[in-house]
Amino acid sequence: MTQAKSTLITRIGELVTNAPEGGGSAGYPGRGGCHRDSRPAGFAAIPDAALVIDGVTVAWTGLASQAPAADAVIDAGGRAVLPGFVDSHAHLVFAGERGAEFAARMAGMPYQAGGILTTVAATRAATDATLRAGLRRLADEMLRQGTTTFECKSGYGLTVADEARLVTLAAELTPEVTYLGAHVVPPEFGGDADGYVALVCGAMLDACAPHARWVDVFCERGAFGAGEARAVLAAGRSRGLRPRVHANQLGRGPGVQVAVEAGAASADHCTFLTAADVDALASSGTVATLLPGAEFGTRQRYPDARPLLNAGVTVALATDCNPGSSFTSSMAFCVALAVREMRMTTEEAVWAATAGGARALLRTDVGHLAPGARADLIMLDAPSHAYLAYRPGVPLVRAIWRSGRLVAGAP
Ligand code: NIG
Ligand code: FE
Repeated sequence: MTQAKSTLITRIGELVTNAPEGGGSAGYPGRGGCHRDSRPAGFAAIPDAALVIDGVTVAWTGLASQAPAADAVIDAGGRAVLPGFVDSHAHLVFAGERGAEFAARMAGMPYQAGGILTTVAATRAATDATLRAGLRRLADEMLRQGTTTFECKSGYGLTVADEARLVTLAAELTPEVTYLGAHVVPPEFGGDADGYVALVCGAMLDACAPHARWVDVFCERGAFGAGEARAVLAAGRSRGLRPRVHANQLGRGPGVQVAVEAGAASADHCTFLTAADVDALASSGTVATLLPGAEFGTRQRYPDARPLLNAGVTVALATDCNPGSSFTSSMAFCVALAVREMRMTTEEAVWAATAGGARALLRTDVGHLAPGARADLIMLDAPSHAYLAYRPGVPLVRAIWRSGRLVAGAP
């Protein structure tokens, strides 16, 4: 089937552009704290709008009344159009499930990092075909819900061969592959964290680095301490991987400080922060990625996003999709939780789930719809972005374009 060269989507009720300037009347400047980037960051939207896709990019945005001609025209009928979601934190290559563990937590059991080992055992025992099928099913589930860019971590293999196959499988579907050999110390090391960190920084890194862009470490009591985390991030850096950190998920600790020191693109979870952690993030380029699905799935308290936002920290929202702490692939659900439980406005939450995720992945081509951006966009069955929180749990994403091509749904 041939594709029209240019497509005009017109009669858009609200076009969320997140464009740094000229983004329209609902501009929301000044937040986002983009310290390494002089452009102001913030939610921006154009009412009664139109957008032109030309090839794989956005060619034009503006008022529908001023739209140029195009080879094909789509009438949005007053619906909202947004950038595709950028899910900057997900663990998608695994086997098995932990529904009983979730049910036990809902009955009062605490969440412990040790549950990860249940998934490690199942993943090690699975064939590549099984892992690939599970990964593809989740990636497809994400796409149908409007996620057009996603990150994917290893971390359920924890041997050289298993971590290597997880990053290799992830790289089949996304360029945003993260090496998370330092998820937990596997049982065969009998608590010898130093010995395992040596492997993570040595042969395992050698096997994984060619397939990954990022290195991550779970810096938490019960996983890896500050010194171990620093060693893992430094080793990853020496092989060209950029750092990101699982930080301050289960309690206060050094994770955020380690992330900032390492110049990490993102410190993820940030559930238990001190004022010093907020200050450290605010004076750095490290994004705070909040993962409300994990609070939902572990019955932990939700972090308050306001101190971060008020301090000018760039905040991203992501699913943390994994079989233990957060088995959701829905960015819309995370937006709704962030608005209802974390004191984010609907504008802040949608920005964090799109442009914020792009910042967390150091991507400038996605998360916004300024001319020149990749034409990754979604149309909602609703007139505004606010409906993502206003109508929680309702499948509002009606059509999804990736790189200018309609890949799911219908406008
Ligand atoms: O981000 N915190 C570490 N890793 C995952 C949980 C993994 C699991 O429980 O299987 C997380 O929440
Ligand atoms: Fe995670």
